[in-house]
Amino acid sequence: MEIKKICVIGGGRMGRQIAMNASIYGFDATVYDIAPAVCDDVAGWAEKYLSERIAKGRMTEEQVAKIKTLFHVEPVLEKALEGVDCVVEAVIEVEDVKRKLFKQLDALVGPEVILATNSSFMVSSKFADCVSNPARLANMHFYNPALVMKFVEVVQGAHTSEETARALYEFCGKIGKKAIWQKKEIDGFAGNYLIMGILKRARYLVQNGYCTYQDVDIAMEEGFHNPMGPFHMIDLTGVDLALDIMKREYDETGVKPDMYDVFEQMVKEGRLGKSVGHGFYDYV
Ligand SMILES: NC(=O)c1ccc[n+]([C@@H]2O[C@H](COP(=O)([O-])OP(=O)(O)OC[C@H]3O[C@@H](n4cnc5c(N)ncnc54)[C@H](O)[C@@H]3O)[C@@H](O)[C@H]2O)c1
Repeated sequence: MEIKKICVIGGGRMGRQIAMNASIYGFDATVYDIAPAVCDDVAGWAEKYLSERIAKGRMTEEQVAKIKTLFHVEPVLEKALEGVDCVVEAVIEVEDVKRKLFKQLDALVGPEVILATNSSFMVSSKFADCVSNPARLANMHFYNPALVMKFVEVVQGAHTSEETARALYEFCGKIGKKAIWQKKEIDGFAGNYLIMGILKRARYLVQNGYCTYQDVDIAMEEGFHNPMGPFHMIDLTGVDLALDIMKREYDETGVKPDMYDVFEQMVKEGRLGKSVGHGFYDYV
């Protein structure tokens, strides 16, 4: 089982970069998004990104020309899936949306095609009943920004075959990533499981008036040499995504997470983080 051609579903912050990363390493990658405006945006973004790589001397004209033959944006799902051996799901972090999509994909691709989810927190076993062959279903979790971050988690669920996990793990190596092959599912996977502990304590300190969020970032950046404190990191990954995760915790436990109201207000005001220029910090 070898991955040669992929389709990434969802052309947002993560999807477009996952596909571009694959194309840079010589893989045919197509981005599909349900929103035609996002498809247009991805095409424009790719053009700009690649031109900038040439301008900065990071890529040659020839390299970019080759990448352009491998990177595609396709607004029709059936066409985007033609001939692929792996689909990477990178749509919004809403379980029902992902479940519906996996059922749709199951009807559109053969049972041998690998289905990988880039979900931040949902283990692939949540979708095992949506597909006819759950042995080809697994998590392949990239970090943001996916073009830069080397770390990827491939998570093998109880339903995932060894071959599927191996194919994904080897694919990560071929696209310049440093992956771990997690043999069992855990909420948040190894990386986020660790980081959630820090974020929870960071929100507790601010909610309860021990210090400001800026102080928390200073503590982690200056005190522990983290490249980014927790609130800088939330700005990068998206305040909306953090709120989705907090909502899930709230639903499951009935206990309102610290700073929940702050995050909710920020999302209402459109302060979603670095991608829009404003979050906990201003970027424009
Ligand atoms: N942002 C991060 O830092 C980060 C990091 C790792 C993993 N993730 C995960 O990656 C996934 C995508 O995150 P993102 O930050 O790129 O989100 P995003 O909101 O930037 O993009 C999601 C895209 O999915 C599209 N979409 C929604 N429903 C769709 C459907 N049914 N079919 C096709 N497209 C659909 C939307 O139009 C949107 O463009 C989520 O599961 C998220 O948890 C995000």
